[in-house]
Amino acid sequence: MYELLSRDISGTSVDSAIPCPRCGMTPMATPVEKPLLTRPLLLVVDDEPPVLKVIERLATKAGFEVVSCGSGAEAMRTLARRPADLALVDLRMPDVNGLDLLRQIRGNHPGCEVILMTGYAAVDSAVEAIKLGAREYLTKPFDIDRLRQVLIDIRLELERRAQVVALESQVARQLEFCGMLGRSPVMQEVFSLIQRLAPHARVVLLSGETGTGKELAARAFHQAGPRRGRPFVTINCSAVVDTLFESELFGHVRGAFTGAVESKPGVFEAAHGGTLFLDEVGELPLSVQAKLLRALEYGEVQRVGALQPKHVDVTVVAATNRDLRAEVAAGRFRGDLFYRLNVVDLTLPPLRDRREDIPYLTAAFMRDASARMQKRIQGLTPAAERLLLNARWDGNIRELKNVVERACMLTDATLVSERELVGAFGPEQGSTGFSNLPVAGSRLRPATTGDAPAPLDAREREHILDVLRQVNGNRMAAAKLLGISRRALYRRLERHQLADEAPSPASRRS
Ligand SMILES: Nc1ncnc2c1ncn2[C@@H]1O[C@H](COP(=O)(O)OP(=O)(O)OP(=O)(O)O)[C@@H](O)[C@H]1O
Ligand SMILES: [Mg+2]
Repeated sequence: MYELLSRDISGTSVDSAIPCPRCGMTPMATPVEKPLLTRPLLLVVDDEPPVLKVIERLATKAGFEVVSCGSGAEAMRTLARRPADLALVDLRMPDVNGLDLLRQIRGNHPGCEVILMTGYAAVDSAVEAIKLGAREYLTKPFDIDRLRQVLIDIRLELERRAQVVALESQVARQLEFCGMLGRSPVMQEVFSLIQRLAPHARVVLLSGETGTGKELAARAFHQAGPRRGRPFVTINCSAVVDTLFESELFGHVRGAFTGAVESKPGVFEAAHGGTLFLDEVGELPLSVQAKLLRALEYGEVQRVGALQPKHVDVTVVAATNRDLRAEVAAGRFRGDLFYRLNVVDLTLPPLRDRREDIPYLTAAFMRDASARMQKRIQGLTPAAERLLLNARWDGNIRELKNVVERACMLTDATLVSERELVGAFGPEQGSTGFSNLPVAGSRLRPATTGDAPAPLDAREREHILDVLRQVNGNRMAAAKLLGISRRALYRRLERHQLADEAPSPASRRS
């Protein structure tokens, strides 16, 4: 990834970026990663020492590291210390029934597969074991060839999973474009457009749902163009108080208003020679939009209270997750400013329209998280993989990244299981429909392929209502949770005609 050197200018940030290898600038050495293939760990649990000895020898030859335990209690203590990939568990032991131990292992260490062994084969317990999630049910005395084959199959499967993730994450890094990952044709097209436009475009409009990578794309424009190495200044229009907009954008002179004790440049001046990123540009009040248009058209800004305008040379990248055309039609955004911004319009596609990127992004996020947390996570269980592929991802890449990172935090095994993913989504959401897991994210519900996706506006309306319900209508708390200013929240309530419908502390009391 790229190192960004930042300093803050009153709520805005200025970066000088070290450019990326694919845009041809400072080459970044892509380390050749070797798949992290350690010997998988097998836990053998049996109260008969001779059985432990036989399995130990066989499993070591089959490529496992082996830890033996003589009781269920010892097995659980060992697992808490050393997460195993596979456990071979005897069905009948003095201190515990193998089925109970199976239940405990699957419940507490879902990344650990379990094989039950018994000298008293019974159809009932075999069925029960499989229902509880056992991988195999083997009878004693062992058919040695069969046991060897089962162990080798499992080891190969673990290795294949680790290799897939290692390769996916390696390819992801090699195909990275200025910090952006994506190998779907649609993302490759986005990269190619940025690369071709960046040397020429002076005004760019980026659209896309939340978490699709608009800010990353803005940085990519900066890095891929001739202004790399010059300032990259960000202003988030939803976080600025109405009365301060003009001063934040264009600066002010000393004494221009109460509290203006010093002269101060605005973000346009700070970005001179570089790029100004106007995030959430749809939130700009109409009164400021006219002044922004002037700055774009003439390259001139006038500090509040100054007599003369100043010339600035700035590339402007604006971003929005609103439909600005609809905003223009509704009279909330100036048409002339929209057409001025829309010279180059680039839309970041939502993750649900490029599901082929999911395994690849997951692998990259997982490798990063695993290295950062110094864990030996190597992949996902098949059920976890299916869950990720089929989730709705309303929060797009940001949500996927957060879920993968949290799941990595929760896991102590080499494979992340569906249980950790569900935990990573948080317990407050409905049910997955994928498995018999007790909780899962509404976002984990499969995106029914036939459904037309809900319009962005509808989703935003629902989300705001949800958050307001969670905080009993407290506007301040809701704005905080939504990551926007209270003013921006009120504007959205108005836009969605939610003023009456949204819960409020007063309505709750009555
Ligand atoms: N193509 C990508 N490759 C890797 N990471 C990505 C990609 N796109 C987004 N991300 C990651 O997802 C997160 C959200 O990205 P970003 O902030 O750029 O989205 P956004 O569209 O600006 O969202 P919002 O509208 O909510 O501000 C960041 O952590 C970013 O690093
Ligand atoms: Mg953003």
